[in-house]
Amino acid sequence: MSHFSYQDGVLHAEGVSLADIARRFGTPTYVYSKAALSANFLSYADACRRHGRNDEAALVCYSVKSNSNIAVLDVLARLGSGFDIVSGGELLRVLAAGGSPRKVIFSGVGKSRDEMRLALSHDILCFNVESIPELHRLNEVAAELGKRAPVSLRVNPNVDAKTHPYISTGLKDNKFGVAYEDALATYRVAAALPHIEVTGIDCHIGSQLLDDAPLLEAVDKLIELIDTLAAEGITVHHLDIGGGIGIDYNGDKPVAVGDYLSRLFAKIDAWRAARHNGAPIKVLFEPGRSIVGNAGVLLTEVQFIKHGETKNFAIVDAAMNDLMRPAMYEAWHGVQTVKQAGEQPAQVYDVVGPVCESGDWLARARELSIAQDDLLAILSAGAYGMTMASNYNTRGRAAEVMVDGKDVHLIRKRELPAELFAEESLLP
Ligand code: LLP
Repeated sequence: MSHFSYQDGVLHAEGVSLADIARRFGTPTYVYSKAALSANFLSYADACRRHGRNDEAALVCYSVKSNSNIAVLDVLARLGSGFDIVSGGELLRVLAAGGSPRKVIFSGVGKSRDEMRLALSHDILCFNVESIPELHRLNEVAAELGKRAPVSLRVNPNVDAKTHPYISTGLKDNKFGVAYEDALATYRVAAALPHIEVTGIDCHIGSQLLDDAPLLEAVDKLIELIDTLAAEGITVHHLDIGGGIGIDYNGDKPVAVGDYLSRLFAKIDAWRAARHNGAPIKVLFEPGRSIVGNAGVLLTEVQFIKHGETKNFAIVDAAMNDLMRPAMYEAWHGVQTVKQAGEQPAQVYDVVGPVCESGDWLARARELSIAQDDLLAILSAGAYGMTMASNYNTRGRAAEVMVDGKDVHLIRKRELPAELFAEESLLP
């Protein structure tokens, strides 16, 4: 069941009308459904349990970059989620939300010393290390603190995720991870460093994958590497497959999470039974989009209808600074009117924002029955929406609310313009 549906002709999030939300909180506003968020997380957690994995044997580390509001993190932490972070700032968010640092993995190619110190002082579960210089820096920082840093190497399995080039990360020619051919040598370096403790292996090959075949292919390559490492006496205790499962934006049919996990666990179980006398290996996931993407919409109001020479424009109060994905990746987001039946004849519109860029569009060539002051919902906006928002054109970022049944909670107030330059100074 979709958690966003028409009830009495008005689009609702769970039991709350989006028209009421606009009246109470204004627009543009991100609206999230707690039930959708929870159900999406549980599709992973329940599948792990069905395959005999308790919390010690499999951990879902929600990828904080996809939506980092602390209320979102709180909902997931209460369901038992771990977290995949890429900055010290994201770690502070997880802690503020009550998440356990023992369930945090730290990814990213450019971790600073301060970030390493912060993460080590909170005893996070693991650093996903992406290069030899990073290993040396982490070894030094851990030595200063008298600790050993738990490390997994992000290995680049060189499989084609068959997704948008900007969000494909597992191929040879991008900045992420250690090349597959260099992985063994890099593990040897790690194993020899006194303040590094090798604990795992990881990869992340890309995002918005509709098919799980590239993920399973990547796992095959990691399995081979784990066996090679074992023969050298380097034991890997966990296997982290990254995130990447896509969502339906425009009639897309992503693989069901349960089916993907069934195939994955079957593969892992067969391998362990054959070569490791059944000794288990912990499995980690780093999903973002598939947990939060379809749990959120961006609610916006039509400011003006403008009939250009060749196009009709619906100028709305949300813009590229609120939802960057169309401008950045030509991403497609569904658009629905909040009133199910508009009074105007349907026309084809480009839905654009007030920012001074031709690239400021949210949707193109959509047939809509709309008039000035109507409300629109930009769909599938829960992931990489608010987290990628900016203040371009001195636009305050949108409010965020979370719906829970018939209740709605403000989880981030709208930014006021004066707040945007409050930390700036005039010259003396
Ligand atoms: N783990 C790592 C190391 C990642 O780099 C990412 C996403 C994830 C996990 C989560 O992947 P997901 O399950 O969400 O596919 N801004 C782009 C997406 C960038 C993804 C970056 N990495 C977009 O709006 O489509």
